[in-house]
Amino acid sequence: MSHPLFSLEGKVALVSGAASGMGRQMAIGFAEAGADVMLLDINLPGAEETAGDIEKLGGKAIAVECNVSDVEKIRETFVLLDRELGKVDVVGNVAGEGKMGAPEEMPVEEVQQVFQNLVFGRFTMCQEAGRRMLEQGKGSIINFGSIGGWNSLGRGHMPYGMSMAAVIQMTRELSTQWASRGVRVNCILPAQVWNENLRSRVKATPEVEDTFISGIPMKRLGNPEEIKGPAIFLASDASSFVTGMALPMDGGNLAMNAGGTYPGSPRASG
Ligand SMILES: NC(=O)c1ccc[n+]([C@@H]2O[C@H](COP(=O)([O-])OP(=O)(O)OC[C@H]3O[C@@H](n4cnc5c(N)ncnc54)[C@H](O)[C@@H]3O)[C@@H](O)[C@H]2O)c1
Repeated sequence: MSHPLFSLEGKVALVSGAASGMGRQMAIGFAEAGADVMLLDINLPGAEETAGDIEKLGGKAIAVECNVSDVEKIRETFVLLDRELGKVDVVGNVAGEGKMGAPEEMPVEEVQQVFQNLVFGRFTMCQEAGRRMLEQGKGSIINFGSIGGWNSLGRGHMPYGMSMAAVIQMTRELSTQWASRGVRVNCILPAQVWNENLRSRVKATPEVEDTFISGIPMKRLGNPEEIKGPAIFLASDASSFVTGMALPMDGGNLAMNAGGTYPGSPRASG
């Protein structure tokens, strides 16, 4: 039997990046908990596939093509949401990506593109959802940050790290400003979680997996379906007094001091 505090029955959720990976799993998790979902992705056939899987479970799902770098398109999508689903109770701000390069060489325009995608896209989603949630006096927004927005990954990910740090601070600002009016805003900070891109990188260079695992005390990478638990917790009344939080989903990565061991030193485990 499931606990009623985790139920999303009667709720409407909007999830970006819902064609694959954690966005797809988050959307499926919300539907399994009872929500109707709108699925945003730049990859419409992929979002439609997720919608088809949700419908097979008996849920309602609408797939929409939306590039989260495009502020106007996000606004239009919320108008569509008003028309098709009538309200929004939960937002999962998942889609987005960075650009890699040496900071001393990267054109500032590329840094701006990453900010457009990860910061201004997420902000517009928060603003559109927040206006509606403030009016109804209740709502939960879940922003995706990254462990790379908390401390430095140190491998050519500067614009991504800067943007994810901005997302974490945006979460704190919005949560503080909206808490007394019923709108909660939290963020999740994943460490390395398997996705298609990571699988092909590991296939090409197997040591990549060991390098990432060396930073994760659980000694494994995450699986996309592991987002369901934290996401349903933050979306539902199970987290009714939780706002402004940055929740690591990282197998212990952020808790560990990366410089703490040396060859021959006693190891915690594994
Ligand atoms: N996987 C990880 O290791 C990891 C770690 C930390 C943070 N994150 C962040 O989590 C989020 C999801 O990661 P994932 O592993 O599930 O990725 P994924 O590649 O499996 O899925 C990303 C989805 O977002 C969509 N997308 C990409 N750009 C988009 C855009 N501009 N507009 C709309 N949709 C777009 C893709 O089509 C895809 O369906 C990303 O923001 C990523 O930066 C991932």
